[in-house]
Amino acid sequence: LKIVRTAAEIEHLDVRTGLVPTMGAFHEGHLELMRTAKRETDRVVASLFVNPTQFGPGEDFSRYPRDEVRDADLAARAGVDLLFAPTVEEMVADGVTKVTVSGLGDRFEGAHRPGHFDGVATIVLKLFHIVRPEVAYFGKKDLQQCAVIDRMVCDLKFEVSLRFCETVRERDGLAMSSRNAYLSPEHRAQASFLYAELKRVRGELIVSKSLVEATLEESKGRLRAAGFLVDYLDLVNPRTFDKRNELVRPCTLIAAVTLGSTRLIDNLTVLEA
Ligand code: PAF
Repeated sequence: LKIVRTAAEIEHLDVRTGLVPTMGAFHEGHLELMRTAKRETDRVVASLFVNPTQFGPGEDFSRYPRDEVRDADLAARAGVDLLFAPTVEEMVADGVTKVTVSGLGDRFEGAHRPGHFDGVATIVLKLFHIVRPEVAYFGKKDLQQCAVIDRMVCDLKFEVSLRFCETVRERDGLAMSSRNAYLSPEHRAQASFLYAELKRVRGELIVSKSLVEATLEESKGRLRAAGFLVDYLDLVNPRTFDKRNELVRPCTLIAAVTLGSTRLIDNLTVLEA
């Protein structure tokens, strides 16, 4: 595995390149994206960049887990050929140009983390320009991020195929996330309740159909009683993130909660497209 820090060092070879954009602190979710990219393309580039522009003031930018030596080793074993680990200076410098995906990027995660999706979309577009991948891989745990990037690529007519891969979960159902490392042992034990609750709500919605709002309200009550602070729990169209008041295809449950000082997000498909 080769590690490079500047865009100028990335060669543009005449082979199918797969890009896995990441912020490091690799877990099975990242490694699965890399292994999928390895199967589907000829050269796998992973980017490792903790992007300051997608963190709000007071968020966890400075304490975000960083361990490049460990990450490089895991990436090599997952089949990554080139690790692009640029400096903040290289990626952001004093740039003032931003990509904004209006509407879609302003709700849910965008409403709770103002500017977050501008930071994500802008950096991902830069990575696409720098690496020029045929295919780019993202995890569905960050479902709204997938929708934002899909819309950006479509609107800006960028030529890249997007592959959104299934969320990888711990044995008890907790969606893998680099931020799970922040959880205390007690909160870690409690955290699996979120996915269990999403599955319960999906079951209830399929039975009750018309009672979407009441079902969601009851579930929020149970989450609060279990010690979670609920930012949102909603049923949405997974492409537009428009709220759904009825079970109409496609629809997905999305949730964001806080446990102690750790924010967790997750989602579960209710009806496929
Ligand atoms: O999902 C992430 O890790 C980040 O949001 C991404 C896509 C690498 C952009 O910084």
